[in-house]
Amino acid sequence: MSYSIEFNNVSKRFLLHKDRRDSVQERVAGLLRPRPQPEEFWALRDVSFQVARGESIALVGHNGAGKSTALKLMTRILEPTSGSVRLNGRVAALLELGSGFHPDLSGRENVFLNGSLMGFGRRDMERRLDEIVDFSGIGQFIDMEVKHYSSGMYTRLAFAVATSVDPDVLITDEVLAVGDEAFQRKCLERIFSFRQQGKTIVFVSHGLDTVRTLCDHAVWLEHGQARLVGGASEVVDAYLAEVNRQEAVVLRQRGREAASSGDSSMRRGSREIEIVQVELVGASGGDQVVFQTHEPLTVRIHYIAHQRIEQPVFGIGINHESGFLIGGPNTAFAGVDIAFAQGAGVVEYAIARLPLLNGRYAASVAAYDTTMTHPYDHHDRLYPFTVHSSRGDERFGVTALSGSWRT
Ligand SMILES: Nc1ncnc2c1ncn2[C@@H]1O[C@H](COP(=O)(O)OP(=O)(O)OP(=O)(O)O)[C@@H](O)[C@H]1O
Ligand SMILES: [Mg+2]
Repeated sequence: MSYSIEFNNVSKRFLLHKDRRDSVQERVAGLLRPRPQPEEFWALRDVSFQVARGESIALVGHNGAGKSTALKLMTRILEPTSGSVRLNGRVAALLELGSGFHPDLSGRENVFLNGSLMGFGRRDMERRLDEIVDFSGIGQFIDMEVKHYSSGMYTRLAFAVATSVDPDVLITDEVLAVGDEAFQRKCLERIFSFRQQGKTIVFVSHGLDTVRTLCDHAVWLEHGQARLVGGASEVVDAYLAEVNRQEAVVLRQRGREAASSGDSSMRRGSREIEIVQVELVGASGGDQVVFQTHEPLTVRIHYIAHQRIEQPVFGIGINHESGFLIGGPNTAFAGVDIAFAQGAGVVEYAIARLPLLNGRYAASVAAYDTTMTHPYDHHDRLYPFTVHSSRGDERFGVTALSGSWRT
């Protein structure tokens, strides 16, 4: 097997120098003490993976996980502290914003400079210039100094240059995050066509659906360590599950704090009926706080009626995090007649296919008297939850309209 890229037990250490704004006193005192050693920080620790020729691989992980550092090692902007990084073939890289171009040179001059760094003469790049300007859509700004470019313009030109030189390996770091929708699509098309031509692709993105469709394999970096190396879908699923798990911990904590805060705006009522527990039940059948669009969601309300209450009304509400109420069904509106409540009981509101899209929401629950004017117990937005949409779902707004198209 011929590898394009090999990471063998790669570690990268940065030395963090303490800030130097010490006072005069501290400096004088410092003369008597040994200088403090710079703190060390391991951005990557013992990371190993291989990328075969023609394969596309993604690096995923939280902010600061070490993804960009790994790319800089591939492009030799950085050297590993230990271990080895091998790379075969001509590499074109589109790294973080601000690297790659000289700010005081014009776009045009940077095209030639970049070309020469990759071994292409002026004449070679002249032949490519029209195509580069055309793809980037940069127009007459090609003759402006790039320090005056917007981040979108900068990225457009950088991507056009990097992909114009027929590289064997294309390395991109979060390019898609900066461009607008149209440009993102153009970039993706080009990356896909590179893939079809058998080029090796290294892709860093927080766009996990794209990772899934574009990449064969993925490396999940966590605090500088490779937590999982494997098939792209498998790694993305595992990473998402962990992100969701961490988010659930935070959401549950927030819900508990709100419920026990005693804040009367969040919980009000005379408590003849007391809501003692609320569960948001998903496809797994258990209480959860992270849902997928179109997953079932049941709001389960456990209550205790401390006395016999005739014809109570139970309701729920779902608010978007921005505050607006998306829906507020109750048993009375639905014509569900509850003769009376006494002692412990459970009421459920079941949504077969949750229509909510990507976002943060909060559920409310309430028990009211039959006129719906007197609250026994009203928990206002005490149950936060998150919805993730996956590929194939609608992407704009808060609800999936789920209509069908005819053409
Ligand atoms: N030159 C440097 N000196 C000191 N620390 C650095 C340096 N470059 C990166 N780091 C640190 O290394 C860690 C990894 O950074 P890196 O940029 O690789 O993360 P990342 O995974 O690309 O994150 P993001 O998703 O935010 O882009 C961070 O904690 C960062 O502060
Ligand atoms: Mg980064």
